[in-house]
Amino acid sequence: MCGIVGYVGSQESLPILLEGLRRLEYRGYDSAGVAILNGRGLIVEKSAGKIAVLEQLLAASAPRGTLGIAHTRWATHGEPTTVNAHPHTDCKGVIAVVHNGIIENYTTLKQKLEQEGHRFTTDTDTEIIAHLIEKYFDGNLERAVAAAVRHLTGTYGIAVISRDDPAKIVGARHGSPLVVGICDSEYILASDVSAIIRHTNQVVYLDDEEMVVLTPAGIHTTTIREETVSKRIETVDWDLEKIEKAGYPHFMLKEIFEQPQSLRNTLRGRLLLDEGTARLGGLNMTPAELRSISRVVITACGTSWHAAMIGEYLIEELARVPVEVEYASEFRYRNPILEPGTVVIAISQSGETADTLAAMREAKRKGARVLGVCNVVGSTIARESDGGVYIHAGPEIGVASTKAFTSQVAALALLTLYLGRLGELSPEMGAALARDLGSIPERIEGILADAEKIRSIARAYAHHNNFLYLGRGYNFPVALEGALKLKEISYIHAEGYPAAEMKHGPIALIDENMPVVFICTQDSAYEKVLSNMEEVRARRGRIIAIASEGDDHVATKADHVIHIPRALGPLTPLLSVVPLQLLAYYIAVERGCDVDQPRNLAKSVTVE
Ligand code: G6P
Repeated sequence: MCGIVGYVGSQESLPILLEGLRRLEYRGYDSAGVAILNGRGLIVEKSAGKIAVLEQLLAASAPRGTLGIAHTRWATHGEPTTVNAHPHTDCKGVIAVVHNGIIENYTTLKQKLEQEGHRFTTDTDTEIIAHLIEKYFDGNLERAVAAAVRHLTGTYGIAVISRDDPAKIVGARHGSPLVVGICDSEYILASDVSAIIRHTNQVVYLDDEEMVVLTPAGIHTTTIREETVSKRIETVDWDLEKIEKAGYPHFMLKEIFEQPQSLRNTLRGRLLLDEGTARLGGLNMTPAELRSISRVVITACGTSWHAAMIGEYLIEELARVPVEVEYASEFRYRNPILEPGTVVIAISQSGETADTLAAMREAKRKGARVLGVCNVVGSTIARESDGGVYIHAGPEIGVASTKAFTSQVAALALLTLYLGRLGELSPEMGAALARDLGSIPERIEGILADAEKIRSIARAYAHHNNFLYLGRGYNFPVALEGALKLKEISYIHAEGYPAAEMKHGPIALIDENMPVVFICTQDSAYEKVLSNMEEVRARRGRIIAIASEGDDHVATKADHVIHIPRALGPLTPLLSVVPLQLLAYYIAVERGCDVDQPRNLAKSVTVE
C-alpha cells in the first residue's frame, strides 16, 4: 500500500525523499507529497498522479531543508486528488502527517474533533491523526503522537513532523510496517527497505505499538505507552543493483528472466540429492514434531494463494498429510477449527499482507504453530512466525508477482520432500524429485529463450477482451495464476478453470472470439485435457496450448503451441507458469499498459 519516507540529517532532504518515493512507488502511485521543515516553517507540496508529476511541480521551486517526510498514496478513504494526497496537516498547518493503513474509528474521532473546533479539509481518515496530535501537543511532538495514536483503532504506520518541535521526525506503527535506516548522523524512516538501501544496510524494524524519534543525534525507540525499548540493528542483504531494472524495460520482465537464478537461490544448500530429501534449517521443529503433524492449513492471498494450492497438491500426494488452503481474508473471520496437530503455513512474498498477517495471528491465538513462507527478510509475518522458509527470491518490484511465485512453489516442494521423507516417501522417489527440482532452473532458461515466439502470439491476441485458462491437476492452479497475471496487468477479463469443469459454465462463452489457453502437459490427465480441447475447437474457440517438449500431437488441435521441457508431474507448474507470465507481459505491453504499476493495484496490501 502507501509508501512512507522520512529523512533527517545534514543533507538537503528533498532529493533523498523523492528518490525514496520512487523506490516505494510500487506500493501505491495515485498521488504523492512531501513536507519539509526549514527556517521559514513547514512547507507542504503535493499532487495527484504519479511521483513524476510531483517532481515536475517541485522542479520550479524546490523547498529546502534537512528534515522532511514524503508519501506515495494508494487511496482508501477519499479519491486520489491533490487535496486528499498526504501529508495532511492540522488546523494551523504546523503539524504534517503521512500515513499507511486505515483508521477504522475515524468517523467517531472526526465528529468529536469537529465539536471541539477542528476544521477538516480532506475526505481522508489520515487527517484526523494530524488534528489529534494538534489536540495533545504541548511542545513535545513524541508525547503528542503517543497520546494521539492511543486513540486510534485500525492500522497505521505514520511519520510526523512539526514546526513547533522542529528537529525531529516521529514514527509510530500498528499493523503497517516501518523501518529505520541508520547512517552516520543521518536517519531514514521508511515503509520498506527499498527506500533505505541506497544509503545503508543497517536497519531497525519497528514492531506493533512502537514509536521512534529520529534526530540528527540518533534514534530513540519506545512503545506507544512511552516505555523505552531497545532494538537490535539488523543488516539487510539487499543491494541497489537488485532493486534496479538492469537494462530491462520493466521490472516484471527482469523478474521473469531472473527466475533461473532466483530458483537457484531458493534451492541453494537445501537439496540433499543422495538422501533424496531436503534440509530446511528455519522450521524450528524437530523431526518428531514434524512427523506428528496431522493436518496442514495454508493461508495466503493473490498469487501466494495459487502457490498454496500447488503446495496442497504436493503435500497431500507426496507427504500424505491432509492440507486445506484458505484465503487469508476468509480464514481470519470464520472461526476455523485448529485441532492439536494442525500446522498453519502463511505464504506471503512481502510478509506484510494485512489479511495474511491477521490470519496468522488468529491461528496463533488458537494455539496453532505457524510457519511462514516469505520473501522479505525481517518482514512482520517472518518475524511473527514460529519458524519457516525464506524463499530468497530477492526483491520483487513489479506489482504482478512472478519470481516469488516460482520460488514459493519450490520452497513448498522442498518442504514436501522433507516431510515426505520423514514419512512414506521412498528414497527413490525422493531422489528423483530432488534431482528434478535441482535442474528446473536450467529448463526455465530454455523457456525464456523462446520469449520471441510467445511475443508474436501475444501480438496476435492482444486485442481480445476475454481469455479462458484451463488446466487439470497441478496445472489447475497454474491456470488460475495465468489468468490472474493477464487481468492484473492488461485489464483483460480472464478466468482460470479446471479444464473438465469448463462444460459446467464457461463453455457457454466459447466462440471464435474467445482465446483459450490450455496447459496440456503430458501427465496423468493429458488425454482428458485433449478431449476438453476438442470441445473448445468444436465451438470455434481459439486455442493456445502449453505442451510438453516433443508432443507434436497437440499441434493438430491447437492454433498455437508453446513447448516446455518435461518435468515430473508435481514439478510441472514451475515450468508451465513461465510462458503464461511472458504471454501476460507481452499482451500488456502490446496494449500500452503500465506493466509494473497496473491501475488500482499495489504490491503490498497492508489494508484489509
Ligand atoms: C497483492 C499483489 C499480489 C500478491 C498479493 C499477496 O495483491 O499485487 O501480487 O500476490 O498481494 O501478496 P503477498 O506479499 O502476501 O504475497
